[in-house]
Amino acid sequence: MHIVDLTQQRKTTKAFDPAHQLSQEEVSAIRALLRMSPSSTNAQPWHFFLASTESGKAKVAAGASGDFAYNEPKIKNASLVVVMCARTRMDDDYLRQVLEQEIKDGRLATAEAQANQHKVRSGYVHKHEQSQVGLLQWSARQVYIALGFLLLGAAEMGIDACPIEGFDAAALDNALNLQAQGLTSQVLVALGRSKSDQDFNAGLPKSRLAESVVITEL
Ligand SMILES: Cc1cc2nc3c(=O)[nH]c(=O)nc-3n(C[C@H](O)[C@H](O)[C@H](O)COP(=O)(O)O)c2cc1C
Repeated sequence: MHIVDLTQQRKTTKAFDPAHQLSQEEVSAIRALLRMSPSSTNAQPWHFFLASTESGKAKVAAGASGDFAYNEPKIKNASLVVVMCARTRMDDDYLRQVLEQEIKDGRLATAEAQANQHKVRSGYVHKHEQSQVGLLQWSARQVYIALGFLLLGAAEMGIDACPIEGFDAAALDNALNLQAQGLTSQVLVALGRSKSDQDFNAGLPKSRLAESVVITEL
């Protein structure tokens, strides 16, 4: 399918079929989409937790109480839930880990190229650490690139998905002990198959502002 048709066809899933399980191949592809997402300076300032078991999904559902209870059935009935987290800190150990991987992957042949890459990436990190909005804002923006990759990739594979910002991030961070890991949850994605007789969005037309409203040619 043409990518533009895909964007028109995909819809946020509001109710999942609890009997439907994604295949191992589909889950592997989802893992690849997350890992292969691009990020500024290739800093990859994220971590993704995957929950497909009852107990895993129950942990994620810790963030879906109170005002967010409306999202709980999506978390519980989806085949897979991804918790997309941003890094709250990027210390030199982490930056060197990224650099070592790039060297291993054959991107930086000379010592000079390696030193330069480390200097540039560290420079970006320090700049964002000192900015008013801070490092987390920068990390979070990168996480949302991975969100876009995941949503479009899932649609291409015929997997239904619901992005979820309606959750209590503090409660979920607590349940997953994220602060100690230098992480904080940003957005969830529930994936599986729509239960179309209960999924009110499945039968509704899409709505977007007109091109003339959101795009201006300079
Ligand atoms: C970042 C983000 C957060 C969202 N959070 C929720 C949510 O918590 N619950 C929900 O049912 N839908 C959520 N949505 C779905 C949006 O309402 C939906 O994408 C939008 O209305 C456009 O509809 P479409 O995805 O079917 O094209 C979210 C979407 C995005 C991109």
